[in-house]
Amino acid sequence: MTKPSRQAAIEIVRADITKLAVDVIVNAANQTLLGGGGVDGAIHRAAGPDLLAECRTLGGCATGDAKITGGYDLPARFVIHTVGPVWHGGRHDEDALLASCYATSLRLAQKHGLASVAFPAISCGVYRFPVERAAAIAVRAIRQTLPACPAVGRVLLVAFDAGTEAALRRALAESG
Ligand code: APR
Repeated sequence: MTKPSRQAAIEIVRADITKLAVDVIVNAANQTLLGGGGVDGAIHRAAGPDLLAECRTLGGCATGDAKITGGYDLPARFVIHTVGPVWHGGRHDEDALLASCYATSLRLAQKHGLASVAFPAISCGVYRFPVERAAAIAVRAIRQTLPACPAVGRVLLVAFDAGTEAALRRALAESG
């Protein structure tokens, strides 16, 4: 009798992602993977210089793709670096590329047997992706990918401000 496949829990939290003691936090990086501002800067500051040293060995990352490193001084064990699309009005494959960030990161967590994954609102800051639209894409991509990621039991969508938290909660509620 096969065990019924338990759908992972998707939770919305208001937090500083660098403080979360989960298996892996996802970084909204840029293609160089050499750090930046926003959540990327916060993660590198909290992880310490060894994170950048490992990132230098990765040869960058394409938009929509994801690469994994250690977590170093972070409470999280690992960091998955993904590169979201810059918003250019919606006719440059932005939706598909953003969905790919979430799906590819989850598949990478599955590959490494990581049970708890925390995402920031990828592309919703410097990259100017509309938050409501991004929230719906994130929840849909996660729900569509989780069945192929049985090792992942817990997904946190981390909001850093009230507006993003409200948008994520609406998107989760509307996704049924
Ligand atoms: N914890 C959780 N979320 C955070 C944190 C934090 N400590 N700091 C910022 N955020 C949120 C922002 O408020 C935003 O909602 O992360 C979301 C993504 O914003 P950015 O960090 O600006 O990322 P993004 O829009 O994907 O732009 C990526 O910015 O920092 C550079 O190097 C990065 O070039 C890349 C670009």
